[in-house]
Amino acid sequence: SFSAQDLVALALGYLLGSIPFGLLLTRFAGTTDIRTIGSGNIGATNVLRTGRKDLAAATLLLDAMKGLAAALIGAQIAPAGGVLAAAAAFIGHIAPVWLRFRGGKGVATFLGALFGLYWPAGLVFAAVWLAVAGLFRYSSLSALVASAAAPMFLAASGRFADAVVFAALAALLWWKHGENIRRLLAGRESRIGKKA
Ligand code: G3P
Repeated sequence: SFSAQDLVALALGYLLGSIPFGLLLTRFAGTTDIRTIGSGNIGATNVLRTGRKDLAAATLLLDAMKGLAAALIGAQIAPAGGVLAAAAAFIGHIAPVWLRFRGGKGVATFLGALFGLYWPAGLVFAAVWLAVAGLFRYSSLSALVASAAAPMFLAASGRFADAVVFAALAALLWWKHGENIRRLLAGRESRIGKKA
């Protein structure tokens, strides 16, 4: 059953996940509102479209770190706290209360959360993302394939509860990539690093 500690893990994960690093970093750097550039997303891929590789790398790292931190801290709070806080961080990133629930697409936070929960799954996600990106140069396609591979790997590793939770998160990630999927199918998706 659900405990007070579980609730603390969920709340902490959500709060961590809801910090919109891409928006904050570009705002502090004085670039135009990232939500008016390229895809309008607040993630590292879109920050790269401003031409600021440093800010894009920092966004990727910090958005991943909040998922990682949530999973590690959550695991100290409750037995199921790791996966609960990891999932809550992902939800916090895609639906932050501070941005009226209009957040990012969750890719970096999904990766960090996986790493914190079970690092081999994080490695699998990263390897699949890099392989697909190397072949096709689409950030979105890489994320779609890697996010589908992660729950399969978790299940194959015998981590069935984690696999179910990450399959649900992957479904949300796919849903948040609706416009990307339409652009990919129409052959109009922008390639990695192409300026806005
Ligand atoms: O990080 C999200 C990525 O998969 C797609 O980003 O800006 O091309 O919609 P974007």
